Parts: sequence; structure tokens; C-alpha cells
Amino acid sequence: VVDIKGGPDEGLDRLGQTLGVKGWVRTLRVQSSVTFMEVNDGSCLSNMQCVMTSDAEGYDQVEGGTITTGASVSVQGTLITSQGSKQKVELKVEKLVMVGKSDPSFPIQKKRVSREFLRTKAHLRPRTNTFGAVARVRNALAYATHKFFQDNGFIWISSPIITASDCEGAGEQFCVTTLIPSSREAVDSPANAIPKTEDGLIDWSQDFFGKPAFLTVSGQLNAETYATALSDVYTFGPTFRAENSQTSRHLAEFWMIEPELAFADLNDDMACATAYLQYVVKHVLDNCKEDMDFFNTWIEKGIINRLSDVVEKKFVQLTYSDAIELLLRAHKKFEFPVKWGCDLQSEHERYITEVAFSGSPEIKAFYMRQNDDGKTVAAMDMLVPRVGELIGGSQREERLDYLEDRLDDLKLNKESYWWYLDLRRYGSVPHAGFGLGFERLVQFATGIDNIRDTIPFPRAPGSAEF
Ligand code: 4AD
Ligand code: MG
Repeated sequence: VVDIKGGPDEGLDRLGQTLGVKGWVRTLRVQSSVTFMEVNDGSCLSNMQCVMTSDAEGYDQVEGGTITTGASVSVQGTLITSQGSKQKVELKVEKLVMVGKSDPSFPIQKKRVSREFLRTKAHLRPRTNTFGAVARVRNALAYATHKFFQDNGFIWISSPIITASDCEGAGEQFCVTTLIPSSREAVDSPANAIPKTEDGLIDWSQDFFGKPAFLTVSGQLNAETYATALSDVYTFGPTFRAENSQTSRHLAEFWMIEPELAFADLNDDMACATAYLQYVVKHVLDNCKEDMDFFNTWIEKGIINRLSDVVEKKFVQLTYSDAIELLLRAHKKFEFPVKWGCDLQSEHERYITEVAFSGSPEIKAFYMRQNDDGKTVAAMDMLVPRVGELIGGSQREERLDYLEDRLDDLKLNKESYWWYLDLRRYGSVPHAGFGLGFERLVQFATGIDNIRDTIPFPRAPGSAEF
């Protein structure tokens, strides 16, 4: 027997056929002559309504009370037109098999539960409508990301997770260390097994790598090495930042998409970022209709219109100086005062995207290409309503002497960038790229307000349990 999967209209062309469904019981309503059981298998938002009478094989389990919310079942029956108005089809059950019982303590019963509560039940929250829908939309965005870049001739590069370099130079890295091999401490208490010097500092000489190693904050520098060999490339993988901030837009572990375009400047970079965002948003609107209707009704009213605007309307481009000018003229008192040269804070980004329109950059990383004015760099941010900074990108400094001066100015150790400098020594080309935080994209596309609800297992200060 074939299982029926996907969408509310699924099966309209298979009425009268014997079909199956395997999934988890959402609700069970026992009436005097008929029992309704809603089963969800995660392939779509809608449940399959299973209608049972006492002649169905296995019906004794309903009467015996073993089938409750959360239980897993396998059901077979005939697909018929539904009598009810909530769904178009339903399954007239011929055989019901209970696969796994659910203890009455199952924490996600029918009543609505808060997303804060569900964060403490990360292992069960995918059984809810909201988290099921987020997971499917996240999957669709990942698919569309690969499709966009592949269709445009980009090659996907795996960047390393363990690295010695700090791409952003912001000192927000987690360090990697090996535990004293096969020591008792390593088993009993890993923290005590970190090799230490007599002063109590981490002893890097004991380390597997022999020198400091960190979790990557960005795959950009690695992507640049491949862009200066294979032309256009992109990365898509996990990145880490040790920011001890409790905000709704920051995670300690997040996925980043980082295209790197060879023989390209900042305008090419902005054009690519715009085309990419429009493509993936359109993909979700076209392919995740049921889930998007759900978000539009329950999570953020009007999100579908807002996303349609992204696909159809032109993006506003604003220079950093113009953005500062705009903020200075704002009839609003900001918590962080605005002046030329400052890094834009979330409140400023929010003002620009929600009150003014759309905006621009931040602090200058060492790799950004210096403009002719000698004081600004060829960098851009893409800001979107509700989320603020979605994308950060720049044209890279491809001139060896400028890059060396910049490293000196920032007192960065030139030796450790020897390989990065080599790219400027052997066949350097103008190139540019950007980084997009994948969870912020999921936030933007679903209307979910806290970034911790956009990734299956969020890593943030105080949350690494699951
Ligand atoms: O602006 P960022 O720091 O830029 C870079 O890392 C560059 N190396 C990218 C590049 O040019 N290849 O980070 C890029 C994006 C941000 O715009 C934001 O969307 C996301 O990464 N991001 C985070 N997302 C979630 N949690 C965090 N802690 C994030 N930090 C950055
Ligand atoms: Mg940034």
C-alpha cells in the first residue's frame, strides 16, 4: 500500500484508492458511532483525517485507550471526499496498527504552547505545526540556495571548520583544544583534562595542532583561494561566533552562505546579493504555499505581501555617509548616538529599514578594498525589515601593497596571513563577495521573531543541551 504524502490537495486524483499513512497522532475524537483521528507525517502542514468505525481492524486499540496524542501509527484505508469543511479528502480506515505508544506525559498536547517552552523541548518541538513549517521552509531555502548558485555557474567549496585565522578580526572565536589523551579526567570531567601550564593557562604545546586552533567565524578567506583559481565559488556551512549576547538575531553557531566572485567589483557583488535574495524568496513563495499561508495567519500578518515586494521591487542603495546623514536628521533619540565613522547598531538599522527604507555598512575588516578617498572601503550590507543586517559583503583588497599596509595599520601579524598575501602575489584579480546568515534568512522568510526558533538545535549562551 502506497503512503500518501504532501499538501492539502494531495490525493484528489486518487479518490477511491486504498492508500496508507504513517505518522504521529495529533488528536483523537471518539464519538458514539465514529472516531476521528488526525495523523501528521511531517511531509506537510495538514493532517490526514482518519475516520474509523468499530468494524475497522485494530479498532480495539481505540476502545482500549492505547492510542493517544503523540503515538505513532500506521493506517490503511480508502481515500474518500471529506464530509467536513477543514479538508478535501479523508481516509476511511480499514486497518489501524499502533506502532509506538505515547506516554500520557507527552508535553505537547493540543493546546497552544509558547515558543519559550518549546525551546526546552527541542527534541519534540518538530512535532508542532510551527516547527514543522519552519523546518520545511528552511529546507526549501537551502535547496534554492544551491540551485541559484549552481544554475549560475558557481562551484560549491567546503571551507574548514577548524582554522588558525580570524577572518573578521573581532576576536570572537571559540578555541579548539584536545583533552589529555585517554586520561581518566577526560572521561570523568572533560574540563579538567584540558592541558594547562603551571600558571593555569591552556598549554598549547600539548595541543594536537601544536598551536592555537579555533572554530571558523567565516569561510571567506578560504573561498577567496578557490575564487582565484576556479572563478565564481560559494560556501554554505556552519560558522561560529563567541558573542556572549542574548539577542533575537545572534547565535553562537549559525550557517553562512558566502559567494566569492572573481573578476568582480562591489556593484557585481550587490547585483548578485539582490538576485540571490529575490530568487530564494520567490522559490519559497512558489513552493511552500501551505506553510507560508500558515505563517501569514499565525506568525506575521502580511508576510506574503512583504516577501512579494522583495521579489518585485527595486532595492534602495544608500552610501554609508547618506545613511549617517539620514540618521542624524531623524526625529528620534537613539540609545547609541550617531556620528560619521560609527558602526550601525540594530536600532539604527531598524530605523533605516522600517522608517526610512533600506541601508548600509559597518566597521572595516582588513580585507575590504580601500576607496580612492583613502578613508572609506568598498563594502556593503543588505538590511531588511525586522531582521536588520541580513548580508555583509565587500570588494576585497587585491593590491598586495595596500593589503600589507592595512595589516600593519591594524597591527595584525603579517606572517600568519602569508598564504592570503600569496593570492595577491600570484595572479591577483579584483574580486568581491558577501556572507548571508542563513538563520536570519529563515527569520525573514517566516516572520519568526527569535533566531533560536529558526535552527533545529540553537547554540547560544546557556543552550547546548540537545
Ligand atoms: O557581516 P559578517 O560578519 O561578514 C562576514 O563574516 C564576511 N566574512 C562575509 C563575506 O564577505 N564573505 O557576517 C555575515 C552575515 C551577517 O550579515 C549576518 O547575517 C550573519 O552573517 N551573522 C550572524 N547570524 C547569526 N548569528 C550571528 N552571531 C551572526 N553574525 C553574523
Ligand atoms: Mg556584518
